[in-house]
Amino acid sequence: MRLEGKIAVITGSSRGIGRATALTFAREGAKVVVNCRANVSEGEEVVSAIKNSGGQAILVQADVSVPQEIKAMFERTVGEFGGLDVLVNNAGIDRPKPFFELTVSDWDETMKTNLYGPFLCAQEAARIMLERGGGKILNTCSVRSLYHAGRQGNIAYSASKAALYNFTTTLAKELAPTIKVNGIAPGPANTDISAVWDEETRNKALEDSYLRRLVEPQDIANAFLFLASSEADAITGELLVVDGGYNLL
Ligand SMILES: NC(=O)c1ccc[n+]([C@@H]2O[C@H](COP(=O)([O-])OP(=O)(O)OC[C@H]3O[C@@H](n4cnc5c(N)ncnc54)[C@H](OP(=O)(O)O)[C@@H]3O)[C@@H](O)[C@H]2O)c1
Repeated sequence: MRLEGKIAVITGSSRGIGRATALTFAREGAKVVVNCRANVSEGEEVVSAIKNSGGQAILVQADVSVPQEIKAMFERTVGEFGGLDVLVNNAGIDRPKPFFELTVSDWDETMKTNLYGPFLCAQEAARIMLERGGGKILNTCSVRSLYHAGRQGNIAYSASKAALYNFTTTLAKELAPTIKVNGIAPGPANTDISAVWDEETRNKALEDSYLRRLVEPQDIANAFLFLASSEADAITGELLVVDGGYNLL
């Protein structure tokens, strides 16, 4: 098992990419903290699935943008499992809107979840990891993080993910050599985020992907597993694009 005995917090792991990552990490021997903001029953289902397969997991309901809730989540992690080895900053929201319709509160909501959340979680996690002498922080960026790939009609999301990429590379410098910090940039993925797309948007995503497919949550979970494992111990400050060739020019 590639994460035997490791302790991992995965934000936004009640659904989609986070859920697949939680199940994968647990299967590989990690003790997993499953997190959600609102959909507690879905989070409980993930914890049950892990326990039913012989793994260890707890659910912590916490909003990544609320400092007290995040502090409490990491205190509970240490209390229950005794430390922390891997943080996956995965919770994110996508609220596409034409530029002139965007309000300050749309902008705030996106930035608070997609950018402040990873900052708050990384700060709490890094304190624990530095004391333990090692750890990994992994951020769910996006192909929208890449400077040429922001999406018209989705500028707040694109800006938040571009900033998260810079946060990733800069934090890698701040926390070296003890903690490794990397990001993954999923392309259009088969989750609740894409379930609301109309046919035209879905077809365009398929057409623009050289592999003619959306990315599955398990594809991203596999990439997170690699970066969390000791196989990636020489890697920091990198962005691994997992997008079915969507970003190829
Ligand atoms: N799907 C794509 O095409 C795609 C592409 C590139 C990047 N990504 C990124 O991948 C990540 C996961 O996306 P997904 O498609 O798997 O999303 P998803 O299916 O919509 O799931 C989102 C998860 O995040 C949680 N969440 C949302 N806001 C939160 C908050 N403030 N605090 C704590 N948890 C919160 C949700 O919990 P609740 O259910 O309780 O709200 C849920 O568990 C996101 O960062 C997204 O931007 C997705």
